[in-house]
Parts: sequence; structure tokens; C-alpha cells
Amino acid sequence: MTDRKKVTIRTLFDKATKSEPISWLTCYDYPTAYFQEQAEMDMLLVGDSLGMTMLGYDGTLPVTMDDMIRHTQAVRRGAPTAFLVGDMPYMSYQASVESAVLNAGRFMAEASCDAIKLEGGHVMADRMRAIVNAGIPAVGHLGLTPQSVAALGGFRVQGKGAVQAKEIIDDAKALEEAGAFCILLEMVPDRVTKIITERAENCLIMSLGSGPDAHGQLLIFHDMFGLYPKFTPKMAKVYGNAGEVLQNGLIQYNKEVKDKTFPKKENWFTMSDEEYTDLQELLD
Ligand code: KIV
Repeated sequence: MTDRKKVTIRTLFDKATKSEPISWLTCYDYPTAYFQEQAEMDMLLVGDSLGMTMLGYDGTLPVTMDDMIRHTQAVRRGAPTAFLVGDMPYMSYQASVESAVLNAGRFMAEASCDAIKLEGGHVMADRMRAIVNAGIPAVGHLGLTPQSVAALGGFRVQGKGAVQAKEIIDDAKALEEAGAFCILLEMVPDRVTKIITERAENCLIMSLGSGPDAHGQLLIFHDMFGLYPKFTPKMAKVYGNAGEVLQNGLIQYNKEVKDKTFPKKENWFTMSDEEYTDLQELLD
């Protein structure tokens, strides 16, 4: 196991002060959390993207709080020192300030999160403020916000035009003023990210496909390793093809069972001749 100390908000701000970029990855299960912990990832996000990557839905909307809690608990068991962010799923905070605080509280109490994340700009500032006032660290999410993908007209870059870019910049300020200690910018042009990062006073700005001028970077784990069969977004960097390794192994296993080259002696257990003789006597 890694012997690093627990990553806290203070650790993250210290990194930003030293211009040391923060690493962040999505994570949804125990074994992946274990590997990410060994790699000393600073932050992990149990994203509601698990609806697609783990549960096979076409989008994130069907994901429930119970789904999120179960996966986040598993991730925490695998990654005790990483800074763990739980993603508030669809309709766990949109309906009311009260539901937002109660569901954010579930993440902290039941899954030992370090913070929660919610999507949306100034319209979500009251939820953000109430969650922070309840003592729960909160991350905002602007730009391409998958829970509103229908309203945004699809998975596309947000803020390419000056007017929309200004709205995103204003939204970032509104979230910071509401108490967000961190804001994720997803698919926002690099120049807009730079402006938001330069203007942030007490808030970490993280980039997902939004350029280098943020305090850190986030990627979706499944995109990095060829583990999501439906598509790989442009912003992802592929670090290895684990999907191909798995597929080849599965084809090979299926073939070996059928042509009887699996199992071999080292793959099964046996019993001594003496015990076997006794057993036969017992059976007779
Ligand atoms: O659910 C998720 O993984 C996310 C990322 C797309 C940022 O929110």
C-alpha cells in the first residue's frame, strides 16, 4: 500500500499554490480504486457516468443515489487516502435545496466522501451555498453538463461564442461566491478556462477537455483504457487498451474450454491416493 498521508482540501490548495497540477480520475469500483490509490492519484470522482460505464445505460439520468452510494463505498475501501468526490445524480439536488443538502449528507455519512459535485451555474448557487453551509465541501461543474445534455443540444463544446463564454465565466464566479472550493470545466475552450482560473480567488479550477490552464486535469478512466465500447471522446487520451486485453483473454478461455486445453493440472485440486482409497471403501 502507498504510505502517503490523506489528501485533504489543504493538500490540494498547497499544490495549486506551488503550481503543481492536480490529477483527478473517475473511479467506480474497488479494484480500480486500489490501482489508482497505488498510483497516488490526488482526487477520484465517482461520477454518475457510472450509469454508462458500469451499468450500461445510454446516459446518466437513470442513476440513483443508492447506485452512487454503493459504488462510492467500494471506491473508498480501495482508496483510503485519495480525495474522494461523490457526484450528485440526476434529481438528487435539482428539485429543492432541502433534497440537495440531505443527499449531499448521505454521500458524506454513508460513503465517507471528502466532497460532493453538482452540475449547473448560478441557478444552482442556492443549493451550493446550503450544502457548504451544512459543512460539506462542494465542487461545481460547468460547460458540458451531462445531466442537461438534452437542453444543451448534445455532447458539444460549450462557450465557443463570446456571449456563452461570458455566461460560463459569470457562473464560475457565482459558484465560487456560493462557497464551491473547486469547479470542473468540461469541454470549455482553453481561453475561457484560462480566464476563469486567473480570476479564481479561493477556488480550484479543474479541466476535462478544457485545456492546460487549470489547476488540474480530470479524465474518464474507461476512456483511458479502451473500456467503454460505445465511443471514445476526442478529449480522452488512451493510455492502453485494456479492453482488447480482456477481449482476447476471453476468446482464448472460451476456445480452451471447448478444445479441452483448459484446465491443466495446476488449475485444479486433488486428493491423496490414501484418502481416495478410504473414500472408495466408504462408498462401497
Ligand atoms: O459523471 C462523471 O463522470 C462526470 C464527468 C463527466 C465530469 O461528471
